[in-house]
Amino acid sequence: MEKKLPIGVLASGSGSNLQSIIDHIEQGRLDADIRVVISNNPDAYAITRAQKHGIPFVIVRHQEFPDREAFDRQMAEILISCGVELVVMAGFMRVLSPLFLKTFPQRVINIHPALLPSFPGLHGQRQAFEYGVKFSGCTVHFADDGVDSGPIIIQAVVPVLETDTEDTLAERILREEHRIYPQAIQFYAEGRIEIHNRQVRIRGLKESASQVLHNPPLEGF
Ligand code: GRF
Repeated sequence: MEKKLPIGVLASGSGSNLQSIIDHIEQGRLDADIRVVISNNPDAYAITRAQKHGIPFVIVRHQEFPDREAFDRQMAEILISCGVELVVMAGFMRVLSPLFLKTFPQRVINIHPALLPSFPGLHGQRQAFEYGVKFSGCTVHFADDGVDSGPIIIQAVVPVLETDTEDTLAERILREEHRIYPQAIQFYAEGRIEIHNRQVRIRGLKESASQVLHNPPLEGF
């Protein structure tokens, strides 16, 4: 049997991205094995999802640690003891310390609900909606010690429609998150990701993105 990439998922909330990763693994489309789910929030629905699928989970309450490093050290110990090679942040609402990132160099990825570097931080969907952009989307990137600032692996672009509310836009973005996150992890699992400074290249891509999008659509121009 092929080796599966051992991953650890950090989640604070509903865990729909975790669910998408679980589903892709169960469908045999993602060569990964979720060794552990860690949440800082005991009420996170992500925990229930892990439980339903028999995935080990640990709750690490950040409030119980004197500082960020101590909290991060505890998480790192758990991840290492579970043999995790790639740390997947999926709606994890804590910024990781440089100490944690040094423990997993270029082995922590995050998903953000906007086209970075636009609209980092909280509520990327709302920021984009209120700004009035015509396209937004989502981004999977390596974590660094900034906020949503590491090298970009993959992005999906979605249009902002005139009929949209913040919620309908967020739903459209989330549907794409559920596709690009498993894809990014699969690229990693296949050992196809190369990082050159800020540029991430994927070896052996079957085709290149060639489509230009306009919103509103051009009328004859
Ligand atoms: C997603 O929008 C993700 O981009 C952001 O937090 C949200 C998590 O959603 N980082 P879920 O917990 O995966 O449903």
